[in-house]
Amino acid sequence: MRPEDTPPTGDRALPRAGAADALRVAAYVLLPSVVCGPVLRRRRAMAAAERLGWDRTGIGAVRRLRSRYGDGPLLLPFGRRAALVLAPRDAVDVLDRTPDPFSPASREKRAALAQFQPHGSLISRGAVREDRRRVNEDALDSGQPLHRGAGRLVRVVREEAGELLPDGGPVAELAWPELEKSWWRTVRRVVFGDAARDDDLLTERLARLRAAANWSYLMPQHRLRRARFLAHLRERTAGAEPGSLAAALPPAAPGTDPWGQVGHWLFAFDAVGMTLPRTLALLAGHPEALRRATEEATAGDPVRPRELPYLRACVRETLRLWPTTPLLLRETVTATHRGATTVPAGTTFVLYTPYLHRSGAAGAEPDRFVPERWLGGRDLARLGVVPFSAGPGRCPGEDVVLLLAATWLAAVLPGRMFRVTSRTRPGPDGPLPAGLDPFALRFSVLRPGAGPAPGGG
Ligand code: HEM
Repeated sequence: MRPEDTPPTGDRALPRAGAADALRVAAYVLLPSVVCGPVLRRRRAMAAAERLGWDRTGIGAVRRLRSRYGDGPLLLPFGRRAALVLAPRDAVDVLDRTPDPFSPASREKRAALAQFQPHGSLISRGAVREDRRRVNEDALDSGQPLHRGAGRLVRVVREEAGELLPDGGPVAELAWPELEKSWWRTVRRVVFGDAARDDDLLTERLARLRAAANWSYLMPQHRLRRARFLAHLRERTAGAEPGSLAAALPPAAPGTDPWGQVGHWLFAFDAVGMTLPRTLALLAGHPEALRRATEEATAGDPVRPRELPYLRACVRETLRLWPTTPLLLRETVTATHRGATTVPAGTTFVLYTPYLHRSGAAGAEPDRFVPERWLGGRDLARLGVVPFSAGPGRCPGEDVVLLLAATWLAAVLPGRMFRVTSRTRPGPDGPLPAGLDPFALRFSVLRPGAGPAPGGG
């Protein structure tokens, strides 16, 4: 038994929010994430979130709760038991003690993700979770900066980026619709192989189920749609080409269902797609960071897989500023003791990452783009900056994500000048916005020497 699980002797009880404060948490922290779509982002809601500053309001609300109630966690008097984690060190503690007593398979997540990945490790419990987790780590080479298939992955990313932004002549504009199409082609080639490149139907089938998953247990399961998607997924996984991620799935015990993990991968690659234009926008607005990034991109053989530490740091910093999982949920599977309070099994712990990431745990100037804070092997996750989560439930795809995103940036930056032409231009002159809608970002792309892009200004 860990010290935290030992019944305490008279220390401080957990604070309990008053009704008005609990309502604030519901309105400013929980509701915006639900409205924006936790599993498939709703475009209009994301635009409203940026325009109306929902994230800034949420961060401010949590900051005020912490100064009123102390470090918490703050018990919320909702119908079901819930606690908001306020202090970064408590966030680390909760994530470190995953999956027991803090299971990632919370009720909301199980209901939501079962729409398209009934056997995903994230919504599994007990021994089978361990084996599903292992299968993910094996196939994704977790902990290795360069996946065993890196040679092919880098080639695929560079080919698709080259098609998106061809070399000949200036390109007028880069916006989400074409970036999205290009990214999904990349993802399908990376996950299954070249033959899956144009399989838009698979992505559309998944999108329909993800839209249903946004409603969690409020939406009944679409069994027929799910069966069609899973059959399609299984067929693609069975035909996975050598060097693809699905081809790296290891054999496993009956019941583990290795190919059943791939639905999560496809869904999670969407978060990478959202991060690419955000990182590009940050680099476009920060000349010194752009200089370093471009220098790194042009420093070696572009085709050879490289670690690209500065570009990786840029991607991590983007994810710190605009985490793609704003709510990390954990549900206690046994009673745990916190302070003088026993928190019963079935309590949901809520980690609100936009606040944790800008609370000062990441160092000075949390509202600024400082990729350097991630350099030198610093793992800010130990301080509560957790875009990829932390502990035994940490994202097993982290290294693949960073490899692909850094490679994509290294492919598009050299020889081009990107300028943000849409409303919000994240730059160094003031605090960065708490929300940035990736779907609204537009760029003019100039190729110095090739003349200005038509209409690009
Ligand atoms: C920007 C991209 C990504 C980010 C920021 C990210 C972040 C995260 C986070 C925060 C979690 C924990 C979720 C929770 O506890 O509820 C997670 C879990 C997971 N991620 Fe990612 N992820 C990304 C992309 C990917 C990709 C591309 C893959 C696979 C190729 C992947 C595979 C997984 C898996 C399998 C889990 C579940 C782990 C478990 O059950 O312990 N992720 N990710």
